[in-house]
Amino acid sequence: MYFDQKAFADPPYEEPARQNFFIEKCRSIIEERNSGRSLPLTACPRAFGCQMNARDTEKLAGILQAVGFNIVDDDGADLVIYDTCTVRENADERVFGRLGFLNNMKKHNPDKIIGVCGCMTQTPGMAERFRSRYRFVDLVFGTYNVYKLAELLYRRLTGESQVIEIWDKADFIVEDLPVKREYSYKSGVNIMYGCNNFCSYCIVPYVRGRERSRRPEEIVEEVKRLAADGVREIMLLGQNVNSYGRGLDRPCSFAELLYKVSEVDGIDRIRFMTSHPKDLSDELIEAIASIEKICRHLHLPLQSGSDRMLERMNRRYTKEGYLDLAARIKKAVPGISLTTDIIVGFPGETEEDFEHTMDVVEQVRYQSAFTFQYSPRTGTPAAAFPDQVPHQDVQRRFDRLLRRVQEISAQLTEEGVGKRGLALVETVSEKNPGCVTGRLGNNLMVHFPGDESMIGGIYDVMLTEAKGFYYMGRLEK
Ligand code: 5AD
Ligand code: SF4
Repeated sequence: MYFDQKAFADPPYEEPARQNFFIEKCRSIIEERNSGRSLPLTACPRAFGCQMNARDTEKLAGILQAVGFNIVDDDGADLVIYDTCTVRENADERVFGRLGFLNNMKKHNPDKIIGVCGCMTQTPGMAERFRSRYRFVDLVFGTYNVYKLAELLYRRLTGESQVIEIWDKADFIVEDLPVKREYSYKSGVNIMYGCNNFCSYCIVPYVRGRERSRRPEEIVEEVKRLAADGVREIMLLGQNVNSYGRGLDRPCSFAELLYKVSEVDGIDRIRFMTSHPKDLSDELIEAIASIEKICRHLHLPLQSGSDRMLERMNRRYTKEGYLDLAARIKKAVPGISLTTDIIVGFPGETEEDFEHTMDVVEQVRYQSAFTFQYSPRTGTPAAAFPDQVPHQDVQRRFDRLLRRVQEISAQLTEEGVGKRGLALVETVSEKNPGCVTGRLGNNLMVHFPGDESMIGGIYDVMLTEAKGFYYMGRLEK
């Protein structure tokens, strides 16, 4: 096996200098390969799951572009990386199914490089599974070393047949590597990584580690750079943004961070995800109410309306506490739309427990809800709970919940007809030729007449018709 020892003799130890060194190294190899081709080599980094992965994938794309690949949205690319999710079991199986397809493609393009990273690779036994049964996967890495893509790719390009590097923690955050944003006008911004909550069903704390907050100055600098680059809307990202700032040398709460970020000129809209109800402070409600740039939308995962289930889920709030919080938010921020996540069929859930969930749905009236059937994740406490709920009960409850959530959602959408809203135009509408699609502050979409030149602009739109989960509208002069 050919191994370029000399090149390995001088990489800097410090980051990000080390990765920039490997970006250069890879670039000379890719440039050489490109020089013999009519079209440059292509790369397709693909995100599964949450906004965190979407953002990580933009980092992968940034590195791959810096290395000399043309970024495409096509599994037929010369390099494909899946940034995986493992929050529910079927997500894993989907990835392995798709890897089988990639392997078939590799038979026609033996130089094709296949990579897998993200949450799924951090679950027990994965390294071994790739080493023994998925030899055709060239690169396997985790959630903590995404920034090392260039270094890992260099090892593959210089002779290692399969590069597997999965860490079990990271105590530091590497900043300032290339990022290729998917959208010119909006961007996610990581404010923290990991989670300390250990909800009993959730695998995230095991695959993304303990909470680490970025320093406020670094976040504000990044937001300034984004604004200078034409971004108008940012989404601050963390598993539990409400506990932002714990562990920083100089303390800074999430509300304080919001005030700092809102002062950045050029940014018109601020969103954030995800809020844990137990940590949502009055100070934060006050910030949402008083900072105009913050969108009137809050995602506030409920998970269950039953105190018994919430206790077993280790959520550390009660139905009453949640309802009280939702009421206080609605009062302080009139017109705010609330969305949520709900799990049906958590171990031990009875009909009575489920009725409490339905009751919260009736009382809060969510604009939308992500509803999930409970999926046991090996290694989490709930997976070992004895009283798993039979599938047909889960399915029946789930169908009932979904129907009700959709009815309420449609009613709320209907209530918006005849009102005006500011829409940030995201795309040309595929369904309605001659129309563009914009996102309203409350996160609903509106289609209205327009063209490509409007993408990235914010327009005052009259909502003329509700179509279930979106509006038709017309531009107000
Ligand atoms: N089963 C079903 N849903 C889950 N979620 C997290 N873990 C599980 C699980 N084991 C849901 C929660 C969370 C969302 C991102 O995914 O509702 O808020
Ligand atoms: Fe998972 Fe709970 Fe952390 Fe959310 S807060 S990532 S549900 S452990």
